Amino acid sequence: MSDVVRIGMLGCGTVGQGVVRILHETAGTIERATGHRLEISRVLVRDAQADRPGLDPAVLTTDAEDILGDDRIDIIIEVMGGVDPTHEWLVRALGHGTSVVTANKQLLARFGPELLAAAEEGGSEIRFEASVCAAIPVIKVLRESLLAAEIESVMGIVNGTTNYILSEMRRSGMTYADALAQAQDLGYAEADPTEDVGGADAAAKMAILSSIAFHTRVLIDDVPYTGIDELQSDDVDIAHELGFVMKLLGIARLADGAVSVRVHPALVPGDHPLASVNGADNAVLLESSLVRQIMLEGPGAGGTETASAVVGDVLSVLGSRPGSFLGGALADAGRPMAAEGALESAFYLRLEVADRPGVLARISAVLGECGVSILTVLQRGEGESARLVMILHRGPESQVQAALVRLRDMPEVRDEPVLITVVGSGEAPS
Ligand code: NAP
Ligand code: HSE
Repeated sequence: MSDVVRIGMLGCGTVGQGVVRILHETAGTIERATGHRLEISRVLVRDAQADRPGLDPAVLTTDAEDILGDDRIDIIIEVMGGVDPTHEWLVRALGHGTSVVTANKQLLARFGPELLAAAEEGGSEIRFEASVCAAIPVIKVLRESLLAAEIESVMGIVNGTTNYILSEMRRSGMTYADALAQAQDLGYAEADPTEDVGGADAAAKMAILSSIAFHTRVLIDDVPYTGIDELQSDDVDIAHELGFVMKLLGIARLADGAVSVRVHPALVPGDHPLASVNGADNAVLLESSLVRQIMLEGPGAGGTETASAVVGDVLSVLGSRPGSFLGGALADAGRPMAAEGALESAFYLRLEVADRPGVLARISAVLGECGVSILTVLQRGEGESARLVMILHRGPESQVQAALVRLRDMPEVRDEPVLITVVGSGEAPS
C-alpha cells in the first residue's frame, strides 16, 4: 500500500460527516502513527448539490461506479445503510481485493458469511466495529482479547434510540412520541426508526455479537425479537414501583451447547449494572467461567461516536495483514440454535381481570398446575376490573407459555396478558 491511502465513501450522512471531520482533524496524528496519509478520493451520495462541510464538492458523485470501478481506491467506507444495493456492491469490492469498513448491521446480520467469504477470496478485509454499539469496542474485545474465553452469555442494551426513549420517559416524563422525535433529531435513529423501536436493529446487532462470541453463524432470522413499540407506559411505571427498570435487552446464551439469542423488553433490578445505563448509551455484559463478568459501556449511537469506530477500523485495516484474523474469530463451531421455550427465566405478568371473588385463586391454580410459582402479587381494583401484577419465580419458559395459553381462555381475563422477562441473578430487587 502506498503512503497515500485512497478512500472511497459510500454515503455521507450522520456517520459519514463524522468520518470526514475526524479524518480531517486527526490527519497529522494518523500520518505520524501509521506512515500513511488518508485521502478521501470519492464520496457517493444521492444529492451531490447538498453542502458537505469539509469536503471538496469535486469528490462527490452519484454514480457508484466512480468508486467500485476505480482500482486506485484502497479502502471503501460504507456508511450508507440498507441491504440493497450495498450487499452486491460490497461483495464485488471485497472479491476484487478492496478492503471494506462498514457500520451496516442489517447487511452483516443477513450476509455476513457471504461477505467474509468474498473477503477471503479477494484477499481483502472487512471490518465492522461501528455496526454494534457505536463507539464501544465490543467486537474487537470479543474477537481479540476474549477469543479463547469461552463466552457463555452476552447480555446488553444494544440500541441507543430505545434506551434514550425509555430513559427520557422515566427521567423527564416525556411522551414516547416526543422522545423518539428527539432521538431522531440527535442522529441516533435509523433512517427507518421502526428498525429501532421494533427491535430489528438490536436483533441484527445481537446476531453479529453472538456469531463472534459463540463461533457460530447466527443470522437475524435466528433471533426472535420484540421491540418497545407495543410496550405500555403503565408497565414501565409499575416496574419502577416494584424496584425494576424496563430495558430493551439483547440476551444471547449457550444452553446445553445450543445457542439462544433474542431481543425483548425486560425488567432489570434497580441494582443491576445494566439498570443505570441511560440515554443513548449502550452496555454489553459478557460472562464466562474463565473471566467471570466484563461489562463494556459507552456511547451506543450518534454520528461522531460511530465515526470514531469507523476510523478505528480503517487504521486497523492498515495495521494488519489481509484476511486471517477476523475469519478465524468467525469460524463456525457448528452449534445448533436452542429450541423456543427451552430456557429458564423469571417473569413479570400483568393481567386485567374481572374483580370478582375467587378470580385470583383460579389464576393461581392455573399457574400452579403448569408448574409456575408466584413470587410477588400486586392487585389494584379499578371499578369492575382489577389489575393483577405478578413476579413469577425463575422457571422453564415453556411452562409459563403453557399457563398463558390457559389464562387467555379464562372468561375472567379481559385483555391480552402482558409477559415480560425479569433478568438478574435474583428474581426481585434486593
Ligand atoms: P444517514 O444519515 O441517512 O446517511 C446515509 C447517507 O447515505 C447519506 O449521505 C445518503 O445520501 C447516502 N445514501 C443513502 N442511500 C443512497 C443511495 N442509494 N445512493 C447513494 N447514496 C445513498 O445514515 P447514518 O445515520 O449516517 O447511518 C449510516 C449507516 O451507519 C447505517 O447503516 C446505520 O445503521 C449505521 N449506523 C448509524 C449510527 C447512528 O448513530 N446514526 C450508529 C451506528 C451505525 P444523501 O446525503 O444525499 O441523502
Ligand atoms: N439506530 C441505532 C441505535 C444506531 O439507536 O442504536 C446505532 O447503531
